[in-house]
Amino acid sequence: MIDVKRWVLIPAAGVGSRMQSDIPKQYLQLNDRYLIDHTIERCLTHPGIDGCYVALSADDAYWADSEFSDHPDLVRVEGGSQRADSVLNALNALSSCANDHDWVLVHDAARPCVRRDDIAKLIIAAEKHDMAAILGVPVHDTMKRVDPNECIQSTVSRDQLWHAYTPQMARLGVLRDALMRTSATEVVVTDEASALEAMGVPVQMVEGHPDNIKVTRPGDLALASFYLNQQSS
Ligand code: CTP
Ligand code: MG
Repeated sequence: MIDVKRWVLIPAAGVGSRMQSDIPKQYLQLNDRYLIDHTIERCLTHPGIDGCYVALSADDAYWADSEFSDHPDLVRVEGGSQRADSVLNALNALSSCANDHDWVLVHDAARPCVRRDDIAKLIIAAEKHDMAAILGVPVHDTMKRVDPNECIQSTVSRDQLWHAYTPQMARLGVLRDALMRTSATEVVVTDEASALEAMGVPVQMVEGHPDNIKVTRPGDLALASFYLNQQSS
């Protein structure tokens, strides 16, 4: 029987424009360390994970000061112009030393509050059904579709509507093929699941904890700090 491994790929090559900060958001200080160091620690030290790949921009001037810059189980690859390009670069690098049957979990560097229990829950769900899987949370607010003048057109039923989080988990070969094929099309790929969906690959939604926020706008940093403190108390 072949030994199937699990790898985490962390896209961290973005500039964080919505954060309106001078430095990329993954290098902002969050509870006395780089934001990305929280993210990496949760993935790299997880008992279900065999190794990590991190996609960084070519001119990244901050990585050398990360707690994990010299870690033996972490490989650095160059990011691309879009998130999907960064993920594909990491998948291509991983493919030279991993099996297409291995599992990959793609996790945003900008989600430092991911819970170890939720990573485990995702792994169990994907492997139990041998099906790609992502973490998410159900939508609770009333949802509206608006016109270009922000005038409400209709209420969208929130039944069966979920927020898509990360990690997003799939077989290495399946995800690489999906991202390569969608990169040659007009399909907008904002997460791994959208590339898999476009290829007709089934993906299951696994309910995670809502504190797994993506730090996106300035106020999110204080919220992430609050969640980290709450988790450790
Ligand atoms: N990312 C990446 N390569 C890119 C763009 C994004 O690896 N070309 C990463 C980001 O570093 C982040 C994750 O993908 O960890 C999620 O993307 P997002 O939250 O959109 O981050 P940014 O693109 O950096 O932020 P913004 O869209 O506000 O510029
Ligand atoms: Mg972005």
